[in-house]
This record gives sequence, C-alpha cells and structure tokens, in this order.
Amino acid sequence: MNKLIINGGKPLKGEVTIGGAKNAAIAILPAVLLVSGTCKIENVPDISDVNKYINVLQELGVNINRTSPTELYIENSKISSTKCLFETCRKMRASYYLLGALLGRYKSVEVPFPGGCDFGSRPIDQHIKGFEALNAQVSTEHGIIKATAKKLMGTSIYLDVVSVGATINMILASVLAEGTTIIENAAKEPHIVDLANFLNTMGANIKGAGTDTIKITGVKELPGNATYSIIPDQIEAGTFMIAAAATGGDVTIKNCIPKHLDSISAKLVEMGISIQEMGDAIRVKCDKRPQKVNIKTLPYPGFPTDMQPQMAVLLSIANGMSILTESVWDNRFQYTNELKKLGANIRIEGRSAIIEGVKNLYGCSVNSTDLRGGAALIIAGLVAKNITEVHNIEHIERGYEHIDKKLKALGAKIERVAED
Ligand code: EPU
Repeated sequence: MNKLIINGGKPLKGEVTIGGAKNAAIAILPAVLLVSGTCKIENVPDISDVNKYINVLQELGVNINRTSPTELYIENSKISSTKCLFETCRKMRASYYLLGALLGRYKSVEVPFPGGCDFGSRPIDQHIKGFEALNAQVSTEHGIIKATAKKLMGTSIYLDVVSVGATINMILASVLAEGTTIIENAAKEPHIVDLANFLNTMGANIKGAGTDTIKITGVKELPGNATYSIIPDQIEAGTFMIAAAATGGDVTIKNCIPKHLDSISAKLVEMGISIQEMGDAIRVKCDKRPQKVNIKTLPYPGFPTDMQPQMAVLLSIANGMSILTESVWDNRFQYTNELKKLGANIRIEGRSAIIEGVKNLYGCSVNSTDLRGGAALIIAGLVAKNITEVHNIEHIERGYEHIDKKLKALGAKIERVAED
C-alpha cells in the first residue's frame, strides 16, 4: 500500500500529456471478444483498472501481448471459457461489459455482480432489460449474473434512464445479432463514440453513436485485423485543468480533445479563469482568486459527474458561496468529509453541496474514498498550506496514469511512498 505526501501551495506550471481514456479502454477491452481476427490497440492507459481487465481476458483464454506500456496486440481465437472468475471480476465495475460481449459472441455468459466505487445504489436493470429485448434469458443468483440465448435478434429499445453502461452493453450484445437494433435515449459520452468507432474499424455497422439514437445493423463476423487508437481521457484532462486553476498555475494540457471539455471550460471561464484552446491542447491560467459558480452534473454534454469532486475543491477556495448539485448518482459526496478536514466549508443538503469559499486550506492526513474523490484530495493537497498525506491511493491508481510523476513534472512537491 502506498500513500502520497504533498507539500502544497506551489502553482503548477508547464505541460502535461494526457493518456488514453479509462472509460473507453474498459469498454474496448471486452469488445475485443467480439472480434474473430487480431487487433492492435494503441493509446491504452497504464492504470490498474486496465491491468485488471487484461487479467480477466487472459483468464478467459485471450492472448494479449503488451508490446509497450500503451499498446496491446490481441488475438482471441482460443477462448476457453465464458464463465468469468469471481475474484478477478468482483472488484471491477466494468466487468458487466463481459455480459454484452460474451453473450454477443458466444450466446452464453456468467459474470459476478460488478463492484466499483460506492455511490449508493447502482442498479443494472436497464442492461438486463436490453439483453432480454434481444431475446436472451437472464438470471441472477448467488451474486452471479447468467445470460444465454439460442439466437440474438435485433430489436428497438428505449432506455428509461440515460445510462452509459446500458448503452455500451446493448451495443456489445447487438453487433453480431440478426437484424437491426435501435437504442433510443442512448448515452452520448465520447467513450461511447470511441467504442462504436473501434467496433466499426473491426467490421461492425453502427450509426448514430454520440446522438441519442444509435442504430446497429448486425453483421455475421467482425474480421478485425486492424489497429485502433483510444481517445484521450476527458476526465484526466479536466482534473489537470482544475489542478492548474486551483493552484493559481499556468498549465498546457496536451493530447486532449477540447470539444470534450466544453462544459468544464465554460464553468472555469465563468469563474474568471483563462482558457485557451490550441488544436489538441488547452492552456489553463489563473492569476486571481476564482469566483463562485453554481454547477449541476448531467449526462454528456452536461457537466460530468466524474468531475464533481475535483470541482468541489476549486469552489472551496473560490470567492463566495457556490451550489454544486449531483444529479447522476444518489450519493457522491463522501469525499467532502475529508475535504472538510483540510478546512473546506461544505454543507450537504440533499443532492447539493453548499460550498462557502475559504481563503486557504491547511494540510493534514486524509483518506481517498473513491477514484475521483481521491483525485480531489490530491488537488486539495496541492492547494493547502503545509503537508497533506493522502491514503488509500489504490482508488486513484485505478484511473490516473502516474499522477504523481505528471504533477511532479509540473513543479508539485509530491512523493509516493510506502505506507508504514
Ligand atoms: N442506472 C439505472 N439502471 C441501470 C443503469 C444505470 O438506474 O441499469 C442509473 C444509475 O443508478 C445512475 C445513472 O443511471 O443514477 C447513470 O448510470 P450509468 O449507467 O451511466 O453509469 P455507469 O455506466 O455505471 C459510468 C462510468 C462512471 C460514470 C458514469 C456516469 C464506467 C465504468 N463508469 O458508470 O465513471 O460516473 O458512467 O457518467 O464507465 C469514474 O470513472 O469515476 C466513474 C464512476
């Protein structure tokens, strides 16, 4: 177990390069199970969620050669099982994509109920409704989800909630189904477009990804034998934007897609922070105390829930009182108890955090409660006076590639050391 020791109060300055998108990678990795030929995947983030997924695929018999830390060469002609092992899958949220992928290709799958960050209830009723609409039989017992089908048949489905996971699972299960599937009220996140682009590159016929209606015309086979490069991580880029702003820094974030960051840039501009877009880079500069702002999280293209905790840090030191409302998850404010230890003035009322900006935060020892909450604590440590220790960083390492090294290169005083 490791912890981070941060000596805060130094503005971040310089350039940082963003890695591949976590939430695209963990959808594309199971999608390779649908491909009969080989595939090469580039710009794969070097994070623990991806490494765990690689282990799960290898346990199923997929041959994966990591030709460099960010490149995978994959061949899966020798799948030995469609039952996923309990221990490797249980801790991952995205293990549920194995349902869509294995059902889609082999018409049979067994996966343990997914784990992941605890944000209150995380139902998967829309995934199950989608599989059943495609003609699969789904049962759940003893913590295992089983799905089988004689033949998957294209269908029309309207999602009752805009769900990233259910949209992805429907795409995975229907690319090889007979006939056409239409998903209405689909999620529009950039990683959904990325998954569709990957599958189309491998031979699928998916249209409309990125809109709320996706049309999938089933094909007999995904021949593959192609190369695909994953998009840059929108949330990693957003996290560095906020870290730059909160420390009063000047950072150029390279290898990002500024369009994916529009909702974050708009809020930073509203707070008086300078944002300059330059092709595939964004420069964030802040030389005065940011102003208060109200924010509500929403599905893409709204303000991302996965940026809510990081934004809370910036609002904690802004001038005035801000209201930050979470509309995607029931309970995503656990991290605020840790932020309060650093001196933040936050009160939770229902699904909103009322944040009264303070002039300074003060370092102390804090625990990461989840991935993005942990990233928020790092930003708070960078802002705070004196020393902050961030524990339980395994949550953060699930989704941020070498975050300590990237921050150090921007001038942060941060060390990753073993816990006593
Ligand atoms: N929902 C249902 N029924 C379902 C599925 C979802 O009611 O069958 C509800 C959820 O309870 C939630 C809302 O719909 O209130 C949205 O959930 P969604 O399915 O979109 O979330 P997810 O697919 O489980 C992904 C990301 C999360 C991110 C959300 C929202 C992955 C592995 N996870 O989760 O990412 O917060 O979309 O954008 O892609 C993170 O990266 O830190 C993270 C938690």
